[in-house]
Amino acid sequence: MSTAKENLKKAHTARVRANAAAKEFAAGEHSYDIAERMFTAKKIEGFPIGKRISQALARTGSGVTGSKVQIRYQALENLALLLRQTPVGNVAECGVWRGASARIILEMANHLGRNENGSGMYLFDTFGGFGDYTPMDYVVSLVEDFQVRSEIGRNIFTETSVETLRENLADFPEVQIIKGPVEETLSAQSDDLRFSFVHIDLDLYEPTRVALEYFVPRMVDGGIIVCDDYSSEMFPGARYAWDEYFGGRKMPFTILASLQSVWCNS
Ligand SMILES: C[S@@+](CC[C@H](N)C(=O)[O-])C[C@H]1O[C@@H](n2cnc3c(N)ncnc32)[C@H](O)[C@@H]1O
Repeated sequence: MSTAKENLKKAHTARVRANAAAKEFAAGEHSYDIAERMFTAKKIEGFPIGKRISQALARTGSGVTGSKVQIRYQALENLALLLRQTPVGNVAECGVWRGASARIILEMANHLGRNENGSGMYLFDTFGGFGDYTPMDYVVSLVEDFQVRSEIGRNIFTETSVETLRENLADFPEVQIIKGPVEETLSAQSDDLRFSFVHIDLDLYEPTRVALEYFVPRMVDGGIIVCDDYSSEMFPGARYAWDEYFGGRKMPFTILASLQSVWCNS
């Protein structure tokens, strides 16, 4: 069969499945897990991204429910799509938690034949959750009292550790795990480190600001930085930091429907 005919057949099958899923959705038989099921069949040049995302979320215990499912899948897929556009080189993630997004980056890198066994992958996290909120992280509509908001922050993303992450990424033994606040750990790295792909998922203003100050000057030509939280309602601080850095320097960037922002060193 010619490629054009094969593609037509695939498109037809996809349409039939999508229509069936839409019918179930309309009948109230399924809710947002439709998004998950639709993603499961997705591939990027032979790489089964949908399946890998489901597996990564299950393996690391980082799944989400309800309306967050689609955004979570889209954001993780975007990491794989963007990584494949960057030159081979070091990769970093700030804000790793239990390793779900790190797994997707590592698996796509593996598929592309780079960063073997996780080599050249730097993972930064406190492994103890957030530090203090700044006024930039304050969501006016949520909790009026600033102290209360900081306390809430202290109790999320705490259920992880270096050991948990090592276990969740056991098939990538060469990843470098750097524990501590990025405000301290980034500047302690070797001066000549350069990066081709960086994922910033720190949620808060101050660490995001520090991460941008550190990484932007260290990106190779064609390198890409992605911020997970640019359009997040829960965490407005990441956008303040991003806008301050790139807006202040009049450096253009892109905003995605997945709430992420992307800058390419072109
Ligand atoms: C949203 S979670 C990361 C989720 C992860 N990327 C994933 O896909 O599952 C945010 C992480 O940022 C980390 N974090 C927040 N502030 C930090 C800081 N100042 N230094 C290092 N890590 C920090 C938290 O410990 C938490 O694990």
